[in-house]
Amino acid sequence: MTHSHKSITLNIYSKMEREIQMGKIWCIYFSPSGTTKVVMERIAAKMDGEKHTWDLLKEPDVTPKTLQPEDVLLVGVPVFSGRIPTPCIPMLQSLKGAQTPAIAVAVYGNRDYDDALLELKNMLEEQAFLVIGAAAVVAQHSIFTKVAAGRPDAEDLEKLDLFSAECIERLQSGRMNWKELQVKGNKPYREISNVPMKPSADTTCTSCGLCARLCPVHAIDPANPRKTDQTRCISCTACIAACPQGARHFPKLMFVPASVAFEKSVQSVVNQNGSYKEKSLYA
Ligand SMILES: Cc1cc2nc3c(=O)[nH]c(=O)nc-3n(C[C@H](O)[C@H](O)[C@H](O)COP(=O)(O)O)c2cc1C
Ligand code: SF4
Ligand code: SF4
Repeated sequence: MTHSHKSITLNIYSKMEREIQMGKIWCIYFSPSGTTKVVMERIAAKMDGEKHTWDLLKEPDVTPKTLQPEDVLLVGVPVFSGRIPTPCIPMLQSLKGAQTPAIAVAVYGNRDYDDALLELKNMLEEQAFLVIGAAAVVAQHSIFTKVAAGRPDAEDLEKLDLFSAECIERLQSGRMNWKELQVKGNKPYREISNVPMKPSADTTCTSCGLCARLCPVHAIDPANPRKTDQTRCISCTACIAACPQGARHFPKLMFVPASVAFEKSVQSVVNQNGSYKEKSLYA
């Protein structure tokens, strides 16, 4: 976990500063292809306090951690088949609140976030956090990268600043004014399903072992990193994003038709609605 120590002043806007009783700001995310990290760091940037950043991919850890009532928890996960990615669950369950305020964020690739935000909110509430802000945010699809390509873009980031400012206002309004948020989703949640395509490395792989160290489900053998254990891999794309050689890919024979079909299905949403699906921000 990285720590940065700053004053406990919250900057809502640059011109307006108010001293409030604040503990630590915990910024926690799982971000195989990097977009969730960008989103969470942007939301956290407005909150000026002692920050603890925990990247669940780089520092997997299930040691129990207890937060204080005056702390603030920010959690961001990508949506995988409408749910929270399974490797995140035991790590997020290691967090216990004490009526600690929390902000829940689900980042999704413009198909749908289905039950993921509700699942995250419910999980946090079961662990004694009070979810005072929640957002579903569109970002570039990590598998079908032409979908929502380049997002979050400058306009998205500005909207995240507004969301962050709204969360800060709510934090400062005091717990008496915090009420339960309603977010989209159904329980029982969608069944957990895995994407059938799994990446492997081509001949440009230098066997550096980076992907094997990073894989959240240990699907890559460090002794033979070109191969992927198909039964373990959850297609998270972390190894593809991290490989310095650009050696890891989904199998072309499956990827090309799947990509055409997926882009078509998202395009039909564009045709129906006149624009790509927007982010939903609840706060
Ligand atoms: C295995 C897998 C499943 C996904 N399922 C969905 C989904 O159900 N709905 C959606 O809109 N995007 C889905 N996506 C896209 C990601 O949620 C999206 O690209 C997100 O921004 C990835 O976050 P990251 O860049 O932090 O890894 C999926 C991506 C992966 C890798
Ligand atoms: S990160 Fe790339 S080069 Fe390194 S072992 Fe993995 S596939 Fe090979
Ligand atoms: S092998 Fe599969 S689970 Fe492991 S990092 Fe790569 S895509 Fe993710």
